[in-house]
Amino acid sequence: MKPTSAKLSLLPNMAIAPTPPLRKALHVLVSALLLGAASVPALAATPAIIEKAEPIPAVSPANSDLVNRGAYIARAADCMACHREDYAGGVGIETPMGKVYATNITPSVRYGIGNYTEQDLKNALKRGRAPDHQLYPAMPYPSYSGMTDGDIHALFAYLQTVPAVDEASPHKTELPFPFNIRTLMKFWNVINVPAWEARTDLDATQQRGEYLVNNLEHCATCHTPRDSTMGYNKSLYMAGAQLGNWHAPNITPDEASGIGSWSETDIATYLRTGHLENRAFAGGPMGEAVAHSTRYLTTEDLRAIASYLKVIPAVRTEDTLQPLNTAKLPQKANDEITFNLIDQMKHIEQAKLKAGTAAGGTVAATSEALYLAKCASCHGVDGYGQPEARYAPIVGISTLRRDQPNAVVNVIAHGIEGATNTSPQMPGFKDELSAEQIAGLANYVRVTFGGMSDRQVTAEQVDNIMTAPADVPFLIKNAGWLAWLGIIAVVLLLGLLIWCLLRRMSDAR
Ligand code: HEC
Ligand code: HEC
Ligand code: HEC
Repeated sequence: MKPTSAKLSLLPNMAIAPTPPLRKALHVLVSALLLGAASVPALAATPAIIEKAEPIPAVSPANSDLVNRGAYIARAADCMACHREDYAGGVGIETPMGKVYATNITPSVRYGIGNYTEQDLKNALKRGRAPDHQLYPAMPYPSYSGMTDGDIHALFAYLQTVPAVDEASPHKTELPFPFNIRTLMKFWNVINVPAWEARTDLDATQQRGEYLVNNLEHCATCHTPRDSTMGYNKSLYMAGAQLGNWHAPNITPDEASGIGSWSETDIATYLRTGHLENRAFAGGPMGEAVAHSTRYLTTEDLRAIASYLKVIPAVRTEDTLQPLNTAKLPQKANDEITFNLIDQMKHIEQAKLKAGTAAGGTVAATSEALYLAKCASCHGVDGYGQPEARYAPIVGISTLRRDQPNAVVNVIAHGIEGATNTSPQMPGFKDELSAEQIAGLANYVRVTFGGMSDRQVTAEQVDNIMTAPADVPFLIKNAGWLAWLGIIAVVLLLGLLIWCLLRRMSDAR
């Protein structure tokens, strides 16, 4: 079978998600304090196949080694997630004060960074300083601040070879006063840059993994909540964070709530293909990270990431998972049905008939009928989907096995925008189905495909999840630094006012 990722387009059409409302962060913090952080010994890597790295389109024998290395760094640092595959920019990163748009970083002199020297690029990446203005941290320079000079040198060489796009970006970042005073970011940078310091107790592979995770891939932007200074909450490093309607799960080695049960090969395979058979699926923002970045990494680098993730502190969060119970999972009807659409249609019709005759009007039967009517055309009667077309296989996936049904309810309610503009989208059902029906569906998929033993999601819970304030303001991630900007601006203005008053008083004397 081909890797599902092979079907992903190279042209992104995405919005970057991220971070956590303070409420959630506090909640997680409190529960972590109550439960205590469990420490779990690292699992040994089990030998298995990680599929081959996706070839990077820009890498070619016609280029110098330096340029090819730069193309790899650009993938590993996921520049395209925001600057798009052609580097012309345009992706808007939402903040409560307005969108911050990624700019054109092609060599266009007029619209891009054609006039940049290597030192200019270094300043932008490491300090958030463009030649004539301060950048907002929607550009992840707090993470990139740890990049090596060698990697920036290669990246600079590569960016020179990218075709110039001589077009003004259709969008301009225009935040209201006082957030438009970019210089204020310097104050924020003093507390929050660099985001990470390298640990001194790691072996060479783990160090490489640490560099990839913290500095290039900036995994923490999604997986770590923020603290009150709106830098990262380091005690909840990788313990999971809310991203609008998505939740980036706990990826610490905790057995109950994190990925402690995953082998290093499991982690590497997931990052390579976006899927771990009968275990986990990379949807939404994680699908994007895989599509633009991790599927291109060398197996060595993926293994380095995995070995590092095994030695980060385990944090127990409330978002615990039911261990996988393979015996309870449905069997694949057969591959024909998974891959042949006509056979699949027939299979659904038969299942509908069967469900209809078996239905005694119970909630479970109604939910099965609803699943067959609303979901089976994409995910299949047996939940194995159509992986070749990237219709998600949902059997056994972690989203269905969480004690808290938020993730699955949000997916059913809001749907999923495809990771790239050619990957399929999942419609949201919040306008079409009642809270009760969504609860029934959530229970049906959790039990039938997740192997959960009970049906515990209630309509009331669904209502709460769907109306929770966390779901409304998408991408709160940047609220933090914006709030800090506001506070700093007010302090400066107050200072100025007092200074003026004092001067007047002394003049009057
Ligand atoms: C999470 C989104 C994101 C990622 C990933 C990202 N950028 Fe940015 N970048 C932005 C945003 C947003 C801006 C504009 C910030 C502003 O207006 O203050 C920006 C601005 C820049 C600038 C300043 C351009 C100018 O206007 O002079 C450069 C250079 C840059 N990015 C390079 C990169 C490179 C190289 C990478 C990969 C190593 C990268 N960026 C990854 C979001 C991102
Ligand atoms: C039009 C096709 C389509 C329909 C109909 C559909 N889905 Fe999906 N679903 C998808 C696709 C495509 C994905 C994967 C998206 C991605 O790659 O990010 C997905 C992903 C999922 C996931 C995995 C989310 C995760 O954690 O990554 C779940 C669970 C799910 N769907 C449940 C359902 C349920 C329940 C229904 C019926 C109410 C349904 N889907 C209807 C296409 C569909
Ligand atoms: C843009 C946000 C984002 C970035 C960047 C990101 N992730 Fe994720 N990650 C998510 C989301 C959201 C999910 C849940 C996906 C789902 O359920 O379909 C996830 C899921 C995962 C999972 C599966 C966990 C489980 O229990 O199923 C792993 C492992 C993971 N991410 C590792 C990483 C690593 C390693 C990086 C850096 C290389 C990374 N992620 C970068 C958002 C992100």
